[in-house]
Amino acid sequence: MAANMAACLVPVVVLALFYLVLFPNDFSQLQSALAPCDSGNSVTPVVSKLTEAYHAAAKPKPADVDFRMFFGIVTRADFYERRALLRMAYALQPRPRRAAIDVRFVICSLDKEEDAVLVALEIITYDDILVLNCTENMNDGKTYEYFSSLPRLFADEPYDYAGKIDDDTYYRLEALADTLRAKARRDMWHGFLNPCHINPEWQYMSGMGYIVSWDVAEWIAVSPELREDHEGPEDMAFGRWMRKGGKAKNVYGEEPRMYDYLDREMYADVNCFRHELVADTVAVHKLKDRLKWARTLRFFNATDELKPSKMYHVDLTPKI
Ligand SMILES: *[C@@H]1O[C@H](CO)[C@@H](O)[C@H](O)[C@H]1NC(C)=O
Ligand SMILES: *[C@@H]1O[C@H](CO)[C@@H](O)[C@H](O)[C@H]1NC(C)=O
Repeated sequence: MAANMAACLVPVVVLALFYLVLFPNDFSQLQSALAPCDSGNSVTPVVSKLTEAYHAAAKPKPADVDFRMFFGIVTRADFYERRALLRMAYALQPRPRRAAIDVRFVICSLDKEEDAVLVALEIITYDDILVLNCTENMNDGKTYEYFSSLPRLFADEPYDYAGKIDDDTYYRLEALADTLRAKARRDMWHGFLNPCHINPEWQYMSGMGYIVSWDVAEWIAVSPELREDHEGPEDMAFGRWMRKGGKAKNVYGEEPRMYDYLDREMYADVNCFRHELVADTVAVHKLKDRLKWARTLRFFNATDELKPSKMYHVDLTPKI
């Protein structure tokens, strides 16, 4: 035991000295370097992996980053399980090349006593939640509230893009970054162009997820009349705003790389917005239950990091 402890401590001491000399200000790296010997607190590595993945982008724009995006997943305060799943799913993805995508959760005000306390704990732990001033049943004003808040909240360090993402959608951030790289940075709107190009005069993006350039969010923020214009589903109203203002003229429909989930056990057919998982996916939507999430995450090799161990045997073979 003592010998084990010593064997473990020697590299730790070396690492600690190394970090103190090279990165005197970076205590998180030192912490995660120490984690292997800290058996009393086995949570540290996971939390630091999550927070590191989330917050890497929050620093000033490094020269090797092409663009920064606020990737806001709109959800409800009481969807704790979904947030836990999404956090893991995004933290375990490969970091997108030359893009900083800040994955954040966007919820309306915390009305319930339990949500205030429990969400406060999440914020302390992960610091990845934006709480808007809206009420959950005000389903028509949330989109306006969200986009119009961003330019004010990040006036000091504006992003290049703002995304409004559904909480039953899984994006592959590297594929997203690669497809956006060659596209316009201004007056831009990216998503799943609905309804399947039937009427280009009347276009809007499916609520599964859309991204606009920051100038579009800034325009929404200075257009209070949009707050009152919320007839019909929100995402169609958003399309109407863009037409009204002559905004977002650089429109990019990412179908068929964005689509609704389908597997062979479902009583549904392939159509213009739904098909089985494909390797070059940008986003898959309608992940309504754990099984659909599990199949999707396995398909995209999210389980590859599982190491063999005497502690478990996990059978990951598909059952369909
Ligand atoms: C919500 O309202 C409070 C009080 O007016 C304000 O301080 C805060 O910045 C608002 N939050 C957002 C996200 O706009
Ligand atoms: C998952 O990994 C396998 C084996 O390495 C590979 O053949 C497959 O293309 C990967 N799937 C995706 C969606 O990248």
